[in-house]
Amino acid sequence: MIIGVLNQKGGVGKTTLSVNLAAALALSGKRALLIDADPQGSALDWQSTREGDTLFPVVGMAKPTLHKDVPELAASYDHVIIDGPPRVNELAKSAIMACDLVLIPVQPSPYDVWAADDIVKLIQEVMIYKAKLKGRFVVNRKIVNTAIGRDVAEALRDYPFLVAETAINQRVAYAESAASGLSVLEFDSKGPAAREIKALVRELVEE
Ligand SMILES: Nc1ncnc2c1ncn2[C@@H]1O[C@H](COP(=O)(O)OP(=O)(O)OP(=O)(O)O)[C@@H](O)[C@H]1O
Ligand SMILES: [Mg+2]
Repeated sequence: MIIGVLNQKGGVGKTTLSVNLAAALALSGKRALLIDADPQGSALDWQSTREGDTLFPVVGMAKPTLHKDVPELAASYDHVIIDGPPRVNELAKSAIMACDLVLIPVQPSPYDVWAADDIVKLIQEVMIYKAKLKGRFVVNRKIVNTAIGRDVAEALRDYPFLVAETAINQRVAYAESAASGLSVLEFDSKGPAAREIKALVRELVEE
């Protein structure tokens, strides 16, 4: 399966979710590949910070030819994750064209809900040519015991894509693990962040 993590809004958690989803897949025995399609190269930075063995390869490919190049690469893997750029441009469109599923991280704020309009439109443009393409929102940085995460999930229902049942909470483990090039699953394998990432993978891949 080819899953792109995209949203033109910056800082919503595309890279955080990409590296952790790829790690969860790799740790469950799947052959996973992470494609860094962001010219900022954050996923590549994450991998290069790491000491010791890598869990999965990270390939830098911030080019609008992704939709042509990814299928051949994907043939050697069970799952490919694409960490997208913070823009709506040809590169983002090419990344979407390469995907089976586009995961759209949204933070629990009305600004993020309104800003999702651009990425939704871009996915819908691609859907005209690729009817099997799916879009799915995921609430990221939800704050435990607050209603805003639920309110945002509710507001997102006005868009034509489903909202993942698993929300990702605001947790220091995400930033702390990334600082040493680790996933939350390695950082604290039984912790709440590891549990929610595994639940999200199950929801996305096994349905
Ligand atoms: N669930 C979370 N809990 C705590 N911190 C988070 C969470 N998700 C993301 N962050 C932090 O938010 C910041 C932005 O996350 P990230 O870099 O993953 O976003 P991005 O969408 O890839 O950004 P860009 O648009 O610049 O590529 C980082 O410092 C990251 O550690
Ligand atoms: Mg990023």
